[in-house]
Parts: sequence; structure tokens; C-alpha cells
Amino acid sequence: MAIYQATASAPVNIACIKYWGKRDTKLILPTNSSLSVTLDQDHLRSTTTSRADPSFEKDRLWLNGSEEEIKDGGRLATCIREMKSLRREVEQKNPNEPKLSSFAVHICSRNNFPTAAGLASSASGFAALVSSLAALYKLPATPSQLSLISRQGSGSACRSLFGGFVAWKMGSASDGSDSLAVEVAPQSHWPDIHALICVVSDDKKGTSSTSGMQRTVETSPLLQHRIKHVVPERMNAISEAILAKDFDTFARITMQDSNQFHAVCLDTDPPIFYMNDVSRAIIALVTEYNRLSVENGGKLKAAYTYDAGPNAVIYAPKENLKEIISMVVKYFPQAEPFKDPFGLFGAQSVGAGSVV
Ligand code: ADP
Ligand code: DP6
Ligand code: CO
Repeated sequence: MAIYQATASAPVNIACIKYWGKRDTKLILPTNSSLSVTLDQDHLRSTTTSRADPSFEKDRLWLNGSEEEIKDGGRLATCIREMKSLRREVEQKNPNEPKLSSFAVHICSRNNFPTAAGLASSASGFAALVSSLAALYKLPATPSQLSLISRQGSGSACRSLFGGFVAWKMGSASDGSDSLAVEVAPQSHWPDIHALICVVSDDKKGTSSTSGMQRTVETSPLLQHRIKHVVPERMNAISEAILAKDFDTFARITMQDSNQFHAVCLDTDPPIFYMNDVSRAIIALVTEYNRLSVENGGKLKAAYTYDAGPNAVIYAPKENLKEIISMVVKYFPQAEPFKDPFGLFGAQSVGAGSVV
């Protein structure tokens, strides 16, 4: 009896221009385009194994060892249905292929970092899910085609189908067919950029990204200004900065956009607070570090960004990392870089390029 099984991993991606807001909650179509850096596979990642078998009675999924319900019409069910439908096309073209699309699947996934803590587990999670099913079903799909499906699991997941610098084009089609991820530049274009992840708290966040952004869309006037008058220009400017390897501009826009995203959360009614005092102290530290450099005629040396949680991601050229890590350890003595990446304020160094 043949065994039909495949395993795939996907890394997290951390946005420089944040996605926050849906114009279509079912298809997960965003109110603005976004842009992110996908981290190395070797660090924060989801690993997912999918198996199809005629003896399975229904589709089931285990996340970090506990079974998650696959709700009818929910995001997991949508992704699995879409992948089975692509498999059906393969079977129709090649009648010798086993009819895997008619079998139920069992899916088992693990994250090697805190889940639902603002470190983009939904991004790596749904990207790994779609990638493992694509491997199981031997689909001839491109990363952009798969991004259309992972987007319907979690918006940010569409960007984890690519490595390096990735844009999610918001698109304009009402069926979502042009709302997909595209590569801006591969990791090899600018391997000097590294990401330092500072785990301030690994607690599950109080307000999920999904419900938080929905409330923002319903109540925040600042969001309307952001999506119309701020993001389109920033998308162009940061893409150009990446292509030109201009860290100064990349850093400035990344920090501005993180700040505006959290301002939009505060402008939500009732307000949402994702950052805490430690997050804000890290902002102050990076700001001071950059100020000293600029005052001495230099350029920006580091850029902080925060997703929907208190944990900091600091992007910096490799030459500054040692200095940044020692500064973080000095001002946050409880930090234990490299030893306990997920303890209180453990700092882990990962690169969009190689490990530091
Ligand atoms: P995060 O900031 O970690 O992305 P979200 O609130 O956006 O937090 O999403 C967390 C949810 O994503 C989890 O509760 C779970 O439903 C889903 N998720 C996380 N990891 C995986 C995974 N490996 N496979 C499938 N779904 C996952
Ligand atoms: C702040 O992709 O997790 O990380 O589409 O509802 O699953 P859903 O939300 P999600 O939101 C991510 C928000 C963000 C910014 C970003 O990654 O662009
Ligand atoms: Co998420």
C-alpha cells in the first residue's frame, strides 16, 4: 500500500510596510499593499507534514501537538479545499495519477517559536501548510500562485512563499485573483541585512491580528488616511531603497511604518496596545543609537519594527550587530542572547542572510 506524505517548512516574514485591514474578510483582501523580509529557514519556522490516505474519514490538523478544529468554511478548510481542487486538475490531465484529491488529509504542524505572540506564526504556519500540500499533490504551481491560497489562510502568509524582500500587491479584482505576493529582490541581493529578534514576551496576544484589524477598519479615521495617502508612496520608496541597498532610507521608512501601524491601533475604538514598556524602551535605545551616529555625520545604523505584539525585530547591516547586541544586553541585563531565545527577553540573532 503506497504512503502519500510530504513535509515542508516555511520561515516567518516580518513586515516593513504593515498589512493591517481587510476590504474582504472572507477572501482576505487587504486595504493596502505591504512589504516584508522573509527570515532564514534556519530560525523561526513552521514545519508541516501532510498525509493523504483512503482510510482517513475527515481532514484533521494538529498544531504543536494539539488538535485544532477545521471549521466548515473557515480558513484551514478553504486552504485545503483550494489545494485539493488544484490536485484535481493534475489528476484530470494525468489519469495515471492516484486520486489523492478524493482522500482526506491529516496534517501535523509545529512552530519552533512562540505561537500567536506577534512573531508571525500565522504567516509561516499557513505558508508551510500550503507548501506541504503542494508537495504531497505534486502541483506545478509557482510561489505566486500558491501565495493566492496561503493568503486565504492568513494574509501575511502569502509573503512567506518567497525568501528575501517580498511585496504583497493588494490588487483590485473582486475575486482576489491579483492579490498576491511577488519578489522585490532575493535574499542574495542584499545579504548584509540581518534581523535581531528580541522576545519581550512569548505570551499569546490578547487581541488576535484578525479581530484587531477588523476593529481598526470599523473605527479608525487614521487608517483611512494611512491607506490612501501614506502607504502607496512608502511602498515605492522602500522598494527603491531595497534595490539600491540604501539602508538609511530602508530604516527610516521601516520605523515610520511600524510607528504608524501602532498609532492606528491606538486610534482604534476601543484602543489596542500591542507594545509594552520594554518595547518602548527598545525604541528609545535604537533612536538614541541612531541619533549619535547621525550627529557624528554618519547614517542610521538600525531599524526597529513591531508586529501585533510586544516583540522587537531590529534590522541592521551585519557590521552593526555586535554593537547592537551588546547594547541590548547592557540596558536589559536580563537578556540572554543565544542561550534561551524564548525566555523573558531572550534575544535571538537571525539573518535574512547568514547566522551571526
Ligand atoms: P501571529 O502574530 O503569531 O501570526 P495571529 O493572531 O496572526 O498570531 O495568528 C495565530 C494563529 O495562526 C494561531 O492561533 C493558529 O490558528 C494559526 N497558526 C499558527 N501557527 C500555525 C501552523 N503552524 N499551522 C497552522 N496554523 C497556524
Ligand atoms: C501586524 O496576517 O496575522 O503582522 O490575515 O487576519 O491572519 P490575518 O492577519 P495576519 O496579520 C499580520 C499583521 C502584521 C503586519 C504584517 O505582517 O504585514
Ligand atoms: Co499573524
